[in-house]
Amino acid sequence: MESKTLRILLRDHINQGELLDLIESELCRNAVSASSPDFELIVLALEYCVDYPEHYHHPAEDAVYARLLQRKPALRGRLVEIDRDHKLLSALTNALAVAISKAIEGGPVNAVSDTGARFVEHYRRHMKIEEAEIFPAAREHLNAADWDAVEAAIAIPKDPLFDEHIREAYHGLQRRIVQQRQKNAG
Ligand SMILES: [Fe+2]
Ligand SMILES: [Fe+2]
Repeated sequence: MESKTLRILLRDHINQGELLDLIESELCRNAVSASSPDFELIVLALEYCVDYPEHYHHPAEDAVYARLLQRKPALRGRLVEIDRDHKLLSALTNALAVAISKAIEGGPVNAVSDTGARFVEHYRRHMKIEEAEIFPAAREHLNAADWDAVEAAIAIPKDPLFDEHIREAYHGLQRRIVQQRQKNAG
């Protein structure tokens, strides 16, 4: 069955997809023009990745997947991989932040491009697997009581970048996302 939690998780993926597009376009700036990426912007985007996806989106998914494992034990292998992915995404977020702070201090910009490409690619692949396999399985196998239990166990706050009350620190980042949206629409 469709659930409020699943709707939020899917909405988060759309938002995260926009953020990844923006990070990728900044990282590519180095290759297409002489100007270097806007490191400050990418650092803010990574802070958001810790603030919301890591603190709320992934734990909410973990609660859904724990329930799904009870209902469909055959999915264990796939769910273990997805769980590992959450840890890897967190490590890649951190690795990219470290590469950027080194580049700001005069370190190699190539390390930012390489780690950034892995970060973006892995995030996209992870969300694609969830959307194609894991969310549909949850929709199919979890019943209303399961979703009630999941909702009781998790607390998803307002998104500090994509909801109506944007955290002040993210205003510049949000403007860039809106610009990108307008460019893609036009
Ligand atoms: Fe996930
Ligand atoms: Fe996800």
